[in-house]
Amino acid sequence: MSSWIFFLLALTICPGAHSIRFATTSPTDGEILNVCVNDKLVLPWTLLLTSADVLDDIKWYFTDHTQTKEMIAISANGMFLQVPAYAARLHVLNTSGLELSHMTAEDAGNYTMEAVSHDSSGKTTTMQRSVHVDVGGGLQTTDGELHVTYNPTAVPDSTGQWSVQLDCGTFTFLASPPFNVQWRFPSGRTITGTSYKNGHFTLWLSAPVEGGNYTCRIPEESSQNACLHGDNDKAEATLHVDGTEARLVLLEAHQAALQKQNDLLKTENSHLKDNLTQQLRQQHLFQEETSQLRDNLTHQQQALQQTNTALAQLNSTQGRHVSFHARGLQNAGPSSGDTMIVPTVLTNEGNAYNSSTGYFTAPYSGTYFFAVTSGSLTTNKYARFDLLVDGTLVAYGKTTDPGPGESTSIHAVVHVAQGLRVWLRAGQSVDYYSSVTSFSGFLLYSD
Ligand SMILES: *[C@@H]1O[C@H](CO)[C@@H](O)[C@H](O)[C@H]1NC(C)=O
Ligand SMILES: *[C@@H]1O[C@H](CO)[C@@H](O)[C@H](O)[C@H]1NC(C)=O
Ligand SMILES: *[C@@H]1O[C@H](CO)[C@@H](O)[C@H](O)[C@H]1NC(C)=O
Ligand SMILES: *[C@@H]1O[C@H](CO)[C@@H](O)[C@H](O)[C@H]1NC(C)=O
Ligand SMILES: *[C@@H]1O[C@H](CO)[C@@H](O)[C@H](O)[C@H]1NC(C)=O
Ligand SMILES: *[C@@H]1O[C@H](CO)[C@@H](O)[C@H](O)[C@H]1NC(C)=O
Ligand SMILES: *[C@@H]1O[C@H](CO)[C@@H](O)[C@H](O)[C@H]1NC(C)=O
Repeated sequence: MSSWIFFLLALTICPGAHSIRFATTSPTDGEILNVCVNDKLVLPWTLLLTSADVLDDIKWYFTDHTQTKEMIAISANGMFLQVPAYAARLHVLNTSGLELSHMTAEDAGNYTMEAVSHDSSGKTTTMQRSVHVDVGGGLQTTDGELHVTYNPTAVPDSTGQWSVQLDCGTFTFLASPPFNVQWRFPSGRTITGTSYKNGHFTLWLSAPVEGGNYTCRIPEESSQNACLHGDNDKAEATLHVDGTEARLVLLEAHQAALQKQNDLLKTENSHLKDNLTQQLRQQHLFQEETSQLRDNLTHQQQALQQTNTALAQLNSTQGRHVSFHARGLQNAGPSSGDTMIVPTVLTNEGNAYNSSTGYFTAPYSGTYFFAVTSGSLTTNKYARFDLLVDGTLVAYGKTTDPGPGESTSIHAVVHVAQGLRVWLRAGQSVDYYSSVTSFSGFLLYSD
């Protein structure tokens, strides 16, 4: 069961396995063949058939230079038929090949073979092959003669060497001729197999060029391929080359090349110089920018330093803690004008209040707040006290009623310069109420 499926599959996948094919590759499709007049054209095309194939027919066609296509022979059902015009000289070879004898110039053109077959399933296959046949009679050059021409222009040969060139021709073969020419140098030396292009065999001559006669010759062993039948075909040509002149041409070409190279080098040198100048300019710009950057950096560093200084100043101002509070009286009965000494210190931040002298000395210039409270213990006497800054009265207090036991408070907001003293001055002689007496102050803000 499964092998039957496989067989079907193989049939589908390999449809070509049962087709006819060519047994020979030569001549290939589209090949150009050279045949000489009176010679035999042999086209040994051979078809291979498997037992499953049935050959239906083979047809041979000829297409002349006017593109007229005619059938020249047909083979079908085991019968070989040919057009009467070809009857005498056409033979079939191995079923599908063809042989045409006594070729003439009129036989030049395309020959095509077309074979049609079918396999057991009835599938038809067509095989086709064409060749172009050139028929030559005598020396096949444009004017029936062989010429050697000299091209006195130096060109680089395949190896890059400067050479002048000798051409032998002009041949009319559609493709490469079926032979090589032989060159003889003035010294007698000979070489064969020079390159062929555009109807010419070319000989490259590089320095030092031999002066003298150069001969191009179709060798005798090649005369058959060249279709040289009679003695009338002059199969060689000679040209005299002036060695001095040729050498001069090569020297000039060489010198011109050197000059060109020199010019190129000069241009490149100038480019390099330009580039160098440009790079120097760029470097200069770069240096300028670097110096500018350095300046900018210095400026910024200075600015930063200024900021730091200001900040430090602000920092230190902010950190100025000055305040004091003291109470009691050391000299409760001072004479009028005496400094009242408030001895019991409860607060003295910044240590600006001296409890043994009663003086507050401003550690910084700034605006200060002061408050004083005191009273009278003497019957029928008012108590008065003055707040002085550097000897100047800024506030004074006086009890509204006479003593004993009356008290009053004063306060002041005043600017005090650094180092100046602030104190309390006793008024009229009186016993001050010591236990209610207090003297306070603090720095509101410094300058
Ligand atoms: C002959 O066949 C070649 C291609 O194989 C084609 O280029 C050429 O034109 C044909 N010449 C003639 C005369 O049919
Ligand atoms: C074709 O026929 C020739 C004789 O005519 C024979 O020598 C040659 O082997 C055959 N070639 C093939 C591929 O059958
Ligand atoms: C070179 O060939 C010319 C004819 O083409 C002939 O006259 C001359 O004598 C030859 N020179 C030599 C050196 O063979
Ligand atoms: C000069 O510099 C340019 C680009 O800056 C570059 O393209 C060129 O190749 C350089 N020329 C040479 C001779 O170095
Ligand atoms: C230096 O600073 C100036 C202005 O302060 C600015 O115009 C200039 O672009 C700066 N240079 C660089 C290289 O940053
Ligand atoms: C400001 O004062 C604080 C604490 O006293 C200190 O840590 C800081 O470094 C000061 N800043 C400046 C800019 O002086
Ligand atoms: C207070 O003043 C007296 C007299 O001037 C002085 O001897 C003393 O050192 C001062 N005390 C303080 C804490 O400054």
